[in-house]
Amino acid sequence: MSAPNQDRLHVSFRPSDRARQALETLPGPVTCAAAPSGQDRSELLSDVRGAAALVCLLTDRVDAELLDAAGPSLRVVANMAVGYDNVDVAACAARGITVTNTPGVLDEATADLAFALLLATSRRVVEADAFVRSGEPWSWRPDLFVGLDVSSGATLGIVGLGRIGLAMARRARAFDMRIVATPSRSAGDEAARLGIETLPLADLLVTSDVVSLHCPLTPDTRHLVGAEELRLMGPGSVLVNTARGPIVDEAALAAALADGTIGAAGLDVFENEPAVHPELLALPNVVLLPHIGSAGRATRDRMAMLAIDNARAVLAGEPAPTPVHP
Ligand code: GLV
Repeated sequence: MSAPNQDRLHVSFRPSDRARQALETLPGPVTCAAAPSGQDRSELLSDVRGAAALVCLLTDRVDAELLDAAGPSLRVVANMAVGYDNVDVAACAARGITVTNTPGVLDEATADLAFALLLATSRRVVEADAFVRSGEPWSWRPDLFVGLDVSSGATLGIVGLGRIGLAMARRARAFDMRIVATPSRSAGDEAARLGIETLPLADLLVTSDVVSLHCPLTPDTRHLVGAEELRLMGPGSVLVNTARGPIVDEAALAAALADGTIGAAGLDVFENEPAVHPELLALPNVVLLPHIGSAGRATRDRMAMLAIDNARAVLAGEPAPTPVHP
């Protein structure tokens, strides 16, 4: 349904049962896409026409073309994600459209997955699993799948000490890791309580056994980790990325993993998602996940409910709970 309709809210994916119940309580009309994974571009451009609110996914590109297709009725874009690099916030602001994201509700789930990648890569869990399944004969050996000792003084370097970075630090504290992080304006008391030392990026890369990325993707962080940064990390070190793919130069990473410049990587995000650099697919020392950082059942419901509440608030003339500031 795409006919112009005052205060229509369009959801670009098939909502969960809980989200659907919340949508049913809204006063205005709601249209929803049928696919859980979101809509084709052309279908989205057509369905958004005349909508007052758009609840969308991080895979939806919200740019001038989409805003033009929506027309002047559009008042709010509620992204069901904490990252909003898919939204042209300046173009929205120029049209008086509020943009919102879903901070806070996915910190623990995302840090759980980042820590799972830290352990899986450090202790070579996925490689070892594939080895057992291969049927190759084996018996206990002192040198079988030897990896990095995590809780015997390994150092975790956190790039981006926001909410998710701090949640990662709490897990590392429980594993007795030394924790260092790039400077943060917001970490404050909790960073001090967790004993986190602040270091400039280059020093953090040299010092850390595991580097975990938790910064947003912005023009400043695109390819923040490239060939030189990987060289600073050094042999045996591990890179974990649950933030956004383009923060890492994926071709440089594949080369560094192949020639032993670094030891291993755990990736939940990719530079040209959903495509994965073909050289990464062939390497044993990288664990590859399909962007599932926040994929806990309750977390996903909380994200959808917060996105819907943001859209509802703007349509009702109330302040959005979690607006993005241009
Ligand atoms: C997921 O990647 C998010 O930004 O919420």
